[in-house]
Amino acid sequence: MPSAAWSSASSPASASPGGFPRGSRVLDAGCGDGQVAIFLASKGLRLTGIDVMVRHLQNSWRNIRKAGLPAGQVEVLYADYHHLEHIPDALYDGVYTMETLLHATDPAAALAGFFRVLRPGGRLVLHESEHPEDTGDRQGRDKVEKTAAINELAAMPTNQVTASGFYRKLLEDTGFVDIEEEDLSENIRPLARLIYAIEIVPYYIIRLFRLDRYFVNVIAGVRGFTGESPWSYVVIDATKPGGTSEDGSEKKEE
Ligand SMILES: C[S@@+](CC[C@H](N)C(=O)[O-])C[C@H]1O[C@@H](n2cnc3c(N)ncnc32)[C@H](O)[C@@H]1O
Repeated sequence: MPSAAWSSASSPASASPGGFPRGSRVLDAGCGDGQVAIFLASKGLRLTGIDVMVRHLQNSWRNIRKAGLPAGQVEVLYADYHHLEHIPDALYDGVYTMETLLHATDPAAALAGFFRVLRPGGRLVLHESEHPEDTGDRQGRDKVEKTAAINELAAMPTNQVTASGFYRKLLEDTGFVDIEEEDLSENIRPLARLIYAIEIVPYYIIRLFRLDRYFVNVIAGVRGFTGESPWSYVVIDATKPGGTSEDGSEKKEE
């Protein structure tokens, strides 16, 4: 199943996002203010979000209260996705990350944890960005340096090492199978253009006064759109071998 099927637009009205049966348990690792978890919960999935920033957790608790969903449909807890030891094996039918694995200090450990807490046949979906390789010339080195500066300021160590194919390789090494990747960069481009239009004037003021470290999102937004800090946005869908997938077919161990 294509990974973009996690959006309701590509799922039949009767099915939950991703084709999961209603009531399936899904972990949102790095849930931020909880909006995506709330959306998926409103479509019938049972969501657990985790995050390490108290301010984001507080926002998500407020948003959950406002959403008025049935009790237990969505919960958000303080937890680091590198340390899921408190979660029993095979608890979840699905796990996803959205623009958060780039903050991982040990992405292999995080994926190993996701693998363990997924049931056999369960699916992991990553929405993350990857970067073209260093071309080795002056222009390429300049881009790498500019990206490195952003990664350091925004605490994104994994973003520093995500050349194309990074996540696929890591998923294979962890033991996932049926890995499907979709490049959604063109879908993201209009939003990147809008962010650029809003931020270009503040960007030059920030640069003039050398305030980069206080406004790293503005720096990243402008440089990402102009290609000075290039990216591609990928969605990767991978399955834990064994068990049955949500369409009832048996998944083979590889
Ligand atoms: C860019 S935000 C994305 C939030 C959300 N997934 C979304 O798409 O709206 C990244 C989130 O990952 C969280 N995060 C970073 N490292 C984490 C970790 N080790 N464990 C759990 N959450 C983490 C951050 O606190 C932040 O809320």
